[in-house]
Amino acid sequence: MRPSLIVGNWKMNGSRAENSKLLASLKAQLANVVDAELAVCVPFVYIPQVSEFLEGSKLSYGAQDVSVHVDGAYTGEVSPSMLNDFGCRYVIVGHSERRQYHKESDLLVAQKALAAFQGKLVPIVCLGETLEQREAAETLDVISRQLHSIQAVLSDELMSKLVIAYEPVWAIGTGLTASPEQAQEVHSFIRQKLGSAGDKVPLLYGGSVKASNAKALFSKPDIDGALVGGASLDADEFIRIAKAVQ
Ligand code: PGA
Repeated sequence: MRPSLIVGNWKMNGSRAENSKLLASLKAQLANVVDAELAVCVPFVYIPQVSEFLEGSKLSYGAQDVSVHVDGAYTGEVSPSMLNDFGCRYVIVGHSERRQYHKESDLLVAQKALAAFQGKLVPIVCLGETLEQREAAETLDVISRQLHSIQAVLSDELMSKLVIAYEPVWAIGTGLTASPEQAQEVHSFIRQKLGSAGDKVPLLYGGSVKASNAKALFSKPDIDGALVGGASLDADEFIRIAKAVQ
């Protein structure tokens, strides 16, 4: 059985005061979520706060990016082992905002996924097409290319330990969600491309997931959870999304 996983991507949001409120509320409601693992991926600077707050709790946490380097003269970078040092379990790699604004290539994303594993983290690798690509009927080609570059760098064993998030770029933060059918089509394509690893890898959907659309998305056989941006900043909404996995 593949685990259900709901990950909050806080993006560049939060403050120490806001985080305390959000985490306290999440912690208080965690017991209501029985069928899914929950995690939050937070800005680097808040990882110590989150780590302290969540000690002993079953809510996992992680970062939104990581360096490909182990250590050394890489000003501004944060290594996988530093994240591991603070108890991070996950790291998002290849989010479309990093691909777009920081020009991260398919190869760099694959190298980050490998570096994450080497630092004992679980990478959540994001794949997704732009609106232009969808309209040109290139969705599956784009996904295939992005996935291939990961497969070219990771061993079969590591491929089976990965988490993948399908996030159509046109659905991120726009209020537009892929329909459950559109998402399922891509998820089943990814599952098939993963070959023998396919049974083990949780496939998350991301892009304007809310409590009101989560149940329909999770009813699809290849949607194992969600990567949630905006709605993860509201504890009640985030918990409602997690409870929709059943
Ligand atoms: P959104 O973001 O839920 O705000 O659309 C999802 C993501 O970018 O991970």
